Amino acid sequence: MDTMVEFIDAASAPQRNTGQVRLHDAAAFEGMRYAGGLASACLDALSDLIKPGTTSQDIDDFVMDFAERHDVLPATLFYRGYRKACCTSINHVVCHGIPAKKPLKDGDVLNVDVTFIADGWHGDTSRMYGVGNVRRAAQRLMNVTLRALEIGVEAVKPGNTTGDIGAAIQTYVEGERCSVVREFCGHGVGRLFHDMPNILHYGRPGEGVLLKPGMIFTIEPMVNLGRPHVKVLSDGWTAVTRDRSLSAQYEHSVGVTVDGVEVFTASPLLDRPKAVGSAS
Ligand code: MF3
Ligand code: CO
Ligand code: CO
Repeated sequence: MDTMVEFIDAASAPQRNTGQVRLHDAAAFEGMRYAGGLASACLDALSDLIKPGTTSQDIDDFVMDFAERHDVLPATLFYRGYRKACCTSINHVVCHGIPAKKPLKDGDVLNVDVTFIADGWHGDTSRMYGVGNVRRAAQRLMNVTLRALEIGVEAVKPGNTTGDIGAAIQTYVEGERCSVVREFCGHGVGRLFHDMPNILHYGRPGEGVLLKPGMIFTIEPMVNLGRPHVKVLSDGWTAVTRDRSLSAQYEHSVGVTVDGVEVFTASPLLDRPKAVGSAS
């Protein structure tokens, strides 16, 4: 439990992770709206590119080019020795997959994670793409993971806690007979890429940090079809499921408002009709 956290006015705080939770002003929300909107627009634009034969390096080239055209910087370039404009996590890769020249195959599913820095603000978002014809189990995993993100976002409002977000996600995901990855979490975001607080995607209601207007963070659940356990490959980045089961992830950057939440990385492509009953 981490209820003893201190809050600090972001505008007057030092530009490093001090362990305090920043409360941002309207100008920060404006900056996040722009950075998040561009990152989301880049993911929208990737839909047409991703098909059998496309390589994850092609995806990275597109993201780099998109960033240049819009005069923003990919935050992952040179971040802790990482050298690509995005992460591409295919099938049993949980997160931090490194773009490479291997072509995507029919039936693959992958996450593309993009963070753009615009006027100093970090817009961090990721989503899943299916390549050609995707198997039912993979499609179900992606649907469950997107719904898990939405359920997490719905738990964001002043007076709730970070534990309410994690508990809502975990309860839903485990009810769908899937598992929540524990080793990676959401994070405070803003002028820093990774800031306080940590947003765990599991937990108990009422635990963690109290949500206050002005907090800005990501929610980015990683959900596995099999067991939750992961390992990091010898490249130091690529995280995979230990049991090689499929993994999916969706990520939004959000801000806590006076009465709820603002999603900075929303996209019309993520709004799909909720399936009710069956067509036949
Ligand atoms: N965008 C990732 C996140 O959601 C972080 C990627 S860091 C990298 O926090 F170095 F692996 F690119
Ligand atoms: Co993130
Ligand atoms: Co991300």
